[in-house]
Amino acid sequence: MSFVRIRQGHALDAVAVSGLVQQVYQPFSADFPPTALKWTSAAVRALPASWLLAHDENKLVGVVRQGPDPEGHTLDSLAVATEWRRRGIGTALVAAVEELAVAACARQMIIALRDVLAANTAFFTALDYRMARPLPPHHHIFTKEIGTSL
Ligand SMILES: CC(C)(COP(=O)(O)OP(=O)(O)OC[C@H]1O[C@@H](n2cnc3c(N)ncnc32)[C@H](O)[C@@H]1OP(=O)(O)O)[C@@H](O)C(=O)NCCC(=O)NCCS
Repeated sequence: MSFVRIRQGHALDAVAVSGLVQQVYQPFSADFPPTALKWTSAAVRALPASWLLAHDENKLVGVVRQGPDPEGHTLDSLAVATEWRRRGIGTALVAAVEELAVAACARQMIIALRDVLAANTAFFTALDYRMARPLPPHHHIFTKEIGTSL
């Protein structure tokens, strides 16, 4: 388990955030058009506070975009640098999003997962996200109840 520092994004982070998202999601382009590739540096700069960044010392090792959703709180474009995976960084980022969601009084996390990404589904299932309904043609909606102990 890595002990990374997690913080909210600023406009000055836009190039680095976009760079990591593009690096992680570009390889999927051979199989499908990844939605996350819409996050150019200009797009990130337009709403930088919706991003959380994970740093190991000064190195950016993971990012996620998050925010309120009509059905609760959502996240997308979760990206952990390849050489930093399986050290708990993705888990730490999702936990940080869930903390923000609880603080905003959301009762449910809701995410759309692409059906072909088995590792992604395994990751969120390990974090207690459960399949709720199909989102045709290529995704399923997964949800997780949060904030019940408050
Ligand atoms: C999915 C992703 C964010 C996981 O990040 P990570 O930092 O490696 O995840 P963690 O170390 O916190 O993993 C926690 C648990 O999730 C599960 N998991 C993570 N990656 C997995 C994989 N490739 N295959 C199967 N299970 C996996 C495991 O149960 C793991 O626990 P373990 O390492 O003790 O077995 C990362 O692999 C990634 O950036 N993938 C490419 C982009 C992507 O698919 N993003 C999600 C779209 S929203």
